[in-house]
Amino acid sequence: MNRLLSLLAGLSSLTLILGQDYRVLDFNATGNGIADDTNAVRAALAAAAATNGGRVIFDYSRIFLTGCFQVKKNVILDVRGMIKGSNLSDHYVFPGKNSSTWEPLIFGSNMKNITITGGGIIEGQGSIWPKLVYLYNTQDITVYNITLRNSPMYNLAFEHVSNVHVYNVTILNPDSFSTSNPSHNTDGVNMYGASNVLIENSYISTGDDAIALYSGGCSYNASENVIVRNLTVGASHGLSIGSITCGGVRNVTFQDITIDGSWIGVRIKSQRGRGGLVQNITYSNIKMNNMNYCIQLTMNYSSTYIPPTSYNVTPHFQDINVHDVTCNKGYYGWHLEGLDDSEINANFWNIQLTNYTNLYRNPCVHIYGTCDNSTVLPNCPSCMRIV
Ligand SMILES: *[C@@H]1O[C@H](CO)[C@@H](O)[C@H](O)[C@H]1NC(C)=O
Ligand SMILES: *[C@@H]1O[C@H](CO)[C@@H](O)[C@H](O)[C@H]1NC(C)=O
Ligand SMILES: *[C@@H]1O[C@H](CO)[C@@H](O)[C@H](O)[C@H]1NC(C)=O
Ligand SMILES: *[C@@H]1O[C@H](CO)[C@@H](O)[C@H](O)[C@H]1NC(C)=O
Ligand SMILES: *[C@@H]1O[C@H](CO)[C@@H](O)[C@H](O)[C@H]1NC(C)=O
Ligand SMILES: *[C@@H]1O[C@H](CO)[C@@H](O)[C@H](O)[C@H]1NC(C)=O
Ligand SMILES: *[C@@H]1O[C@H](CO)[C@@H](O)[C@H](O)[C@H]1NC(C)=O
Ligand SMILES: *[C@@H]1O[C@H](CO)[C@@H](O)[C@H](O)[C@H]1NC(C)=O
Ligand SMILES: *[C@@H]1O[C@H](CO)[C@@H](O)[C@H](O)[C@H]1NC(C)=O
Ligand SMILES: *[C@@H]1O[C@H](CO)[C@@H](O)[C@H](O)[C@H]1NC(C)=O
Ligand SMILES: *[C@@H]1O[C@H](CO)[C@@H](O)[C@H](O)[C@H]1NC(C)=O
Ligand SMILES: *[C@@H]1O[C@H](CO)[C@@H](O)[C@H](O)[C@H]1NC(C)=O
Repeated sequence: MNRLLSLLAGLSSLTLILGQDYRVLDFNATGNGIADDTNAVRAALAAAAATNGGRVIFDYSRIFLTGCFQVKKNVILDVRGMIKGSNLSDHYVFPGKNSSTWEPLIFGSNMKNITITGGGIIEGQGSIWPKLVYLYNTQDITVYNITLRNSPMYNLAFEHVSNVHVYNVTILNPDSFSTSNPSHNTDGVNMYGASNVLIENSYISTGDDAIALYSGGCSYNASENVIVRNLTVGASHGLSIGSITCGGVRNVTFQDITIDGSWIGVRIKSQRGRGGLVQNITYSNIKMNNMNYCIQLTMNYSSTYIPPTSYNVTPHFQDINVHDVTCNKGYYGWHLEGLDDSEINANFWNIQLTNYTNLYRNPCVHIYGTCDNSTVLPNCPSCMRIV
């Protein structure tokens, strides 16, 4: 009986410990935005890890200047104030580790149940070259109520992940075409080998793809079962699938999205050598203004000619549905470029292009499917083989 009681007591104290709060300030962080708080941040995360997880709190109105750190399973990063990524290169190597590439500011690998929230800001200072948040081989990821700013590279990078929910997130990086302060490769959400993903109710303005969904390489698992909806997008390079599609991308919906001032809007890009099957992709209720390209489906992403090699690395776009789309003030309305041995299969309806400079970017080739002449205005793509 005593042993049972002490066992129960042990279990309940374990339960109490999981989910405990760890304030970074209690680990001797200054939170003043000037002193280096890296050790305190890492110590708070280590303390949470030692109890199988917990909430790590970055207090409101404080600024925690830090180098890279790792999240372990069952961690909530509760960013109420600001995490400010250090701009010193030696802050992007983990202790005891030699690295030839930059470590991400926030990194997790082989984890489960990671949450990033708190109403605060993760500021990257745009200075050196790490990803802001990178989670690898991780399940159950939630990111909400947070602003990600001035990432030096991808803002949220997810590789080999499943069960991801991103909502009410604001992502702000300079436009890649800005003459004073351009940002490059600053994808909003960059995902490969990602399944069961929902991204919604967010604002993204950045220097590269707002969303980039691809499959890493030919041996990667497909990216699949992804829904992206109710976004507002400013500057970006598009709602993009590709360019690496060899492992497959399927079952993806983009819907209810407003874009103003992006380089490209609807975008599926691949090329010989990066191919594979892109299937069952829907873009619906997309409203675009001030674009360079409205709708781009291309298998010639890099203009370097690569000769046919094998079926597996030739891209195939099947069952691409684009409907209820408006684009006002596009430089190019359509860029549709399949391959002679791999026609794009697409269906277009309820599309209105207005105030465009050129209806097509040439070449417009190798595409077939359905197109409703009464609703695709001013007219269906001239190169389309209607079936
Ligand atoms: C914080 O600093 C105090 C005083 O230097 C020290 O006693 C304490 O161990 C430190 N706590 C942590 C968690 O490092
Ligand atoms: C996820 O982590 C949080 C924080 O530690 C914890 O409260 C929650 O119970 C965990 N969820 C699961 C399903 O383990
Ligand atoms: C580096 O970061 C510090 C602290 O945030 C800041 O004061 C400084 O201006 C930054 N330097 C550069 C070159 O960005
Ligand atoms: C780390 O790199 C340095 C310099 O390249 C090398 O001398 C050292 O042996 C490496 N350490 C480990 C543990 O690999
Ligand atoms: C998001 O943040 C707002 C404002 O801080 C808060 O009211 C809301 O409860 C948060 N949402 C969740 C799901 O925690
Ligand atoms: C969204 O997150 C912001 C903080 O980034 C918060 O102020 C706002 O209340 C949240 N909105 C909702 C609907 O939770
Ligand atoms: C769409 O997202 C915005 C925040 O960007 C939010 O205020 C609004 O409620 C969302 N709409 C729906 C239908 O969820
Ligand atoms: C790839 O998919 C297979 C089959 O569904 C699964 O067993 C495996 O865990 C997946 N690998 C990764 C890295 O997600
Ligand atoms: C597409 O998603 C649906 C719903 O999640 C699922 O039932 C179906 O198997 C998926 N199809 C493919 C080809 O993955
Ligand atoms: C196509 O993808 C959508 C999600 O985007 C899914 O609901 C649907 O089941 C998929 N269809 C098939 C045949 O897999
Ligand atoms: C086309 O541009 C003109 C001039 O800016 C504007 O008045 C008109 O509303 C635009 N057309 C549409 C459909 O937005
Ligand atoms: C659609 O209209 C174009 C002219 O705008 C015409 O060349 C083409 O044959 C029509 N296609 C169908 C399927 O009616």
